Amino acid sequence: MSSETHAWWKEAVIYQIYPRSFADSNGDGIGDLNGITAHLDYLAKLGIDVIWLSPIYESPNDDNGYDISDYRNIMAEFGTMEDFDRLLAEAHKRNIRIVMDLVVNHTSDEHPWFIESRKSKDNPYRDYYIWRDPTETGEAPNHWESCFSGSAWQYDDLTGQYYLHCFSRKQPDLNWENSKVREEVFDLMDWWCRKGIDGFRMDVISMISKDQSFPDGPLNADGYSDMFSHVCNGPRVHEYLQEMNRRVLSKYDLLTVGEAAGVTVEEAKKYANSDGTELGMVFHFEHTDGAANSDAVWGKWTCTPPKLSYVRKILNKWQLELEGKAWGSLYWDNHDQPRVVSRFGNDSPKWREKSAKMLATVLHLQKGTPYIYQGEEIGMTNRHFSSLADCVDIEEKNAWQQLVVEQKIMDGKVMLSCFDCVGRDNARTPMQWDDTANAGFTTGEPWLAVNPNYPVINVKAALADKQSVFYYYQRLIALRHTLPIVVYGRFKPLLEDSEEIYAYQRILGEQVLVVAANWTDKEVPCDLFVGDQDEELISNYDTHKAGFLQPYEARVVRKSR
Ligand code: GLC
Ligand code: CA
Repeated sequence: MSSETHAWWKEAVIYQIYPRSFADSNGDGIGDLNGITAHLDYLAKLGIDVIWLSPIYESPNDDNGYDISDYRNIMAEFGTMEDFDRLLAEAHKRNIRIVMDLVVNHTSDEHPWFIESRKSKDNPYRDYYIWRDPTETGEAPNHWESCFSGSAWQYDDLTGQYYLHCFSRKQPDLNWENSKVREEVFDLMDWWCRKGIDGFRMDVISMISKDQSFPDGPLNADGYSDMFSHVCNGPRVHEYLQEMNRRVLSKYDLLTVGEAAGVTVEEAKKYANSDGTELGMVFHFEHTDGAANSDAVWGKWTCTPPKLSYVRKILNKWQLELEGKAWGSLYWDNHDQPRVVSRFGNDSPKWREKSAKMLATVLHLQKGTPYIYQGEEIGMTNRHFSSLADCVDIEEKNAWQQLVVEQKIMDGKVMLSCFDCVGRDNARTPMQWDDTANAGFTTGEPWLAVNPNYPVINVKAALADKQSVFYYYQRLIALRHTLPIVVYGRFKPLLEDSEEIYAYQRILGEQVLVVAANWTDKEVPCDLFVGDQDEELISNYDTHKAGFLQPYEARVVRKSR
């Protein structure tokens, strides 16, 4: 037996829905709650256990719902609270749980708290946000750069002070030092829990405690200093999460996952500690973060494909370090990342399906809770940006304005190719349901153009083809549901020096799984599967070549020790 405490959320597979792009039920071009409800049977067929819903609350949509103006109301474009209640009930009927996105590092500037807060220095809501005087020379309190380009401080004429916004200026940061803010957050969480939801994905939760001296730092070439090191994993973040756990989380049976920008494996052991005093698990960004990639052109903007050796080193480190101490989360894709098959695999018609299945194998056989992002299960790909007009995402638009237009640090063509590789709009093109107009996503004009490859890559085609990426994901999910070793087995790396093969074992009691995947489009030697006594659990090839892995071949076999 493994020493791990068992929990439903450790055994679950999560499916992330970006509601705006999933399914439009009323022809206005925007995905909505009824669109999700209409496709629950599809998700049940895939076999997932939990839906993580990206934000569905009332929002002016400066950052597609990650700027909330009312935590207790549904965004009109997405439907009504009745629609939500129906979605929750229909999901539960199918044994699918619903996890909400909790965005409480910041609100929208149109939230009533901020509207009050702005009004005067002595307004009761003033301290809900982070206001500071200008410097003696009338400038921003420091040179921190926001995650969406430009200064992290916005001057407000009305009271002559600046407020902090780690993201867009329409996303003012809440002041967690204020106990009233914490109470408000715990109250709204409790309100949703009482409605019967099953957990929270916590947006940039590692950023809620800021270094209160707001230290400046050396200026980068763009004239700004680093904010990240002063706002991520701050001095009181664990205290706040323990308080949240005592006040709310411990009272319910929830899945909790913190989006933890800047988290190290050491920090993760605190956030997701096995004693359960904070969160269930966190998302880290070491394997997806462009900034960690020395080949980046600027910040996260890069076109260089990540190397297997780089990705494997990071993932293996997390597997080994968390063992027995904290639970991990597994993901390639989400609404902020490019499409996995385009980034880590090969999206050419020849290799798209094989490499998508290979990557799915590598991830789903690791230890931790796996996340699938809508469309990943049919091998959806990145799109192509031909001009700035193709960009909708605020991160892309602001970066273009600063780096290409104002500071000329990046050339426009280079920037567009970086968008092709890592821009967030890649993940946000509408879900491809079938080969009719607009991929069956809407009968109207989609809010963001569909990827032109939808006549080939779509759900209908995937369901009609027994060899499709969809059925491969379905089998991977079923393996996790039937074999405790996939959930609880210990991870042991293999072939750590290989430039071509990602291989590892999972071990539980007398059982061993051997997982091996060829990351290249060439046949490569591999002697992990010698002898024929092993039981193959899954592979993306029907036949094998003794002593070799074929291009993008992945195999999982079971042996006994
Ligand atoms: C998180 C979200 C991202 C959003 C940001 C600000 O990183 O995943 O989409 O823009 O937080 O809320
Ligand atoms: Ca709609």
